[in-house]
Amino acid sequence: MLLLAGSVWPASAADQRAVNYDEAKVPAYTLPDPLVMNDGTTVADAAAWREKRRSEVLELYRTHVFGRSPGRPAGMTFKITSCDRQALGGKAMRKEVAVFFTGKQDGPSMSILIYLPNGAAKPVPAFVGLNFGGNHAINSDPGITLSTRWMRPGRAKDGSVVDNRATEKGRGTEARRWPVDMILARGYALATIYYGDLEPGHAEGWKTGIRAALGDAGANTQFAPDAWGAIGAWAWGLSRAMDYFETDGDIDAKRVAVMGHSRLGKTALWAGAQDERFAIVISNNSGEGGAAITRRCFGETITIINTAFPHWFCANFKKYNGRENDLPVDAHMLVALAAPRPVYVASATEDQWADPRGEFLACKHADPVYRLLGKDGLGVEQMPPPDQPVGKTIGYHCRTGKHDVTDYDWRQYLAFADRHFGRNNSP
Ligand code: GCU
Repeated sequence: MLLLAGSVWPASAADQRAVNYDEAKVPAYTLPDPLVMNDGTTVADAAAWREKRRSEVLELYRTHVFGRSPGRPAGMTFKITSCDRQALGGKAMRKEVAVFFTGKQDGPSMSILIYLPNGAAKPVPAFVGLNFGGNHAINSDPGITLSTRWMRPGRAKDGSVVDNRATEKGRGTEARRWPVDMILARGYALATIYYGDLEPGHAEGWKTGIRAALGDAGANTQFAPDAWGAIGAWAWGLSRAMDYFETDGDIDAKRVAVMGHSRLGKTALWAGAQDERFAIVISNNSGEGGAAITRRCFGETITIINTAFPHWFCANFKKYNGRENDLPVDAHMLVALAAPRPVYVASATEDQWADPRGEFLACKHADPVYRLLGKDGLGVEQMPPPDQPVGKTIGYHCRTGKHDVTDYDWRQYLAFADRHFGRNNSP
């Protein structure tokens, strides 16, 4: 099956008919109150959120949505596999770091590609995100090691078919989504990892990914109902990258923004929710299972996502197919798990599948948690017109155009990071 990342799903006509894109047909719903504890009492103050309610919400997400992930493996090691101080025409230092999860060089591993701006005062703040096409796809830099992992078949820039092995033709095929020069010019490092290093992006991918290697896959056929799905595995990899950043004197591990697009936007939200070391959390067009309010049943729904991508969430999540109102959480609570840290949610006008209004509403309904924690949250009641970023500690915009990551999106993320990291280099 050829899945096109970012394409409009679902493929089947029956599913298409079931999809609602009419605001008038959004069912009436009541959101769970993020500030009401499981026992029905109300969270009285910031300490009660921090000490009790935050862990309850996290636990609800673990049990019902993303599943439970293991922690940092005891024997994990890092190895710098390449370093070029004069990459990209002298603009950057390029490092590649192998993370050996069990310490064994022939065991499960991932490769982090890092660009650091030359001339910037170290340690530098950084953006980290998973990529869809292999590290070599984010830039045409010939010094990036070609991934040897399974690749989604697709098309190269010249239109020729790229099969499931990376070739030279794959270089730079995702560069449009990774404006490396812009990020470096603003004084940030960029770190990225191919999501397929953790788990290849197809239903059988777990067999060759870290869930089989490290998880509770048992006989490799059954997962516990609340065991991690693929999104949990991808998010876990981001935390392992953070483990590495804490050891790298060039990177300011206290100023790392985690960013992701689409399924990797859901992943960024989940990584940021679990791992408070990420200082900023950014969701780009994450939609269902990410920043979109699932109770709206607008665009993609729980049933559709669990059918098309049965491996993304934990098995328990399937209980909520067609039963959105029974789910004890909704997307505003995933956004609120970033609190009090800054979180940014971006939608796109033509990405109705991901429900832009539902993404805005998740931000709006996360706002009370931010306010309780003394932050100014979103600060607007109405969804802004296209291309008008809003918000304070919660940022939001809906860009004109399709499901994608564009320079426009990155400019907002850079300005947001500048504001929250106290940097003054916005143009
Ligand atoms: C599909 C899926 C979305 C997902 C996207 C992607 O469109 O329905 O939920 O965000 O794929 O990750 O590419």
